[in-house]
Amino acid sequence: MLKPREPIAGLGPYHSPITSRAGLSLDLNESMAGCSPRVLARLRSLSAADVSLYPQREAGERVVANFLGVAPEQVLLTNGMDEALSLLFTSYLGAGHELLFADPTFVMYAMLGKALGAQLVRLQPEEDLALPVADLLAHISPRTRVIAIANPNNPTGLAAARVDLLKIVEAVPHAAVLIDEAYFEFCGETLIPDLTRYPNLFVARTFSKAYGLAGLRVGVLVGAAEQIGYLRRFSLPFNVNSVALACLEEALADQAFVSEHVAQVKQGREQLARLFDELGLRIWPSQTNFVLVRVGGKVKSFVESMQRRGILVRDSSASPGCDGCVRITVGTPSQMDGVLQAIRDAIAEIRG
Ligand SMILES: Cc1ncc(COP(=O)(O)O)c(C=O)c1O
Repeated sequence: MLKPREPIAGLGPYHSPITSRAGLSLDLNESMAGCSPRVLARLRSLSAADVSLYPQREAGERVVANFLGVAPEQVLLTNGMDEALSLLFTSYLGAGHELLFADPTFVMYAMLGKALGAQLVRLQPEEDLALPVADLLAHISPRTRVIAIANPNNPTGLAAARVDLLKIVEAVPHAAVLIDEAYFEFCGETLIPDLTRYPNLFVARTFSKAYGLAGLRVGVLVGAAEQIGYLRRFSLPFNVNSVALACLEEALADQAFVSEHVAQVKQGREQLARLFDELGLRIWPSQTNFVLVRVGGKVKSFVESMQRRGILVRDSSASPGCDGCVRITVGTPSQMDGVLQAIRDAIAEIRG
């Protein structure tokens, strides 16, 4: 009987991260503000040629490189950041290699590492859920081939200090260090300027969050030109479609939209932080567009209670160190009053 490779056969069954779209989706860290009106205008102006001809990724890479202040040879555009992770991991990781990361973090790292037959070296969190820098350094071995760090992290929202990240990059010249900056815009710290000094450093970005283009699927991988050159050989030439490429340029050009959205998210996460403080619930200081909060043993009832109020939030209690925790995406200013009230009511309900 036909069987896939052992690591693929051994993966758990696939479950879509989208459980429902009935209600306000505060469970996937998408942009609740939608996208720039300039993107929508560009979409409406698309011609037949825009859809009938193969896409030219290189043009988009020049635009993104210019925006990031790097050379086009250092940039690879991908079908969402997920594809960037897949390309990066496939290029450096295999059986007999180690993938090193600290829990809790983005679930795709473990999934890809397993699929490639690599050994997962996962560090257990401390109570503060911060990146355990010393522990991570202590677990580097000659077999370490990829270190993956989301900064700021998902699901905690916490950001690590740049000096600590650079210590890690410096300690493993034989391994690829991925700094996943999916939530960069909400935090402002980046390692892109450090790419010139470290040929083993990769920075990944996405247009799914602050730019509100999750449905179009555009991600970016930036690194040393030589390393990106290897990944480019292996990437599918038409991985980013023409519609996404056309919109990308408009999205980048409308930085006023991004700044306004980021400012509103920062206000919204402050409101959530104040409310949870008032309710006596533990939160972690977020640098992203979501907040992680510990509601306790009745987490499932809380999630259900929110759903009955028309709001989807993510039960994160299965993530290591996140017992009883829920992750909530920040809504728009006009949604936030309703969100805050729903949280008050749901907490009152589970407290009985
Ligand atoms: C830390 C992190 N990295 C990467 C991604 C994937 O982003 P994309 O939509 O570009 O595939 C996400 C999405 O939630 C994320 O939280």
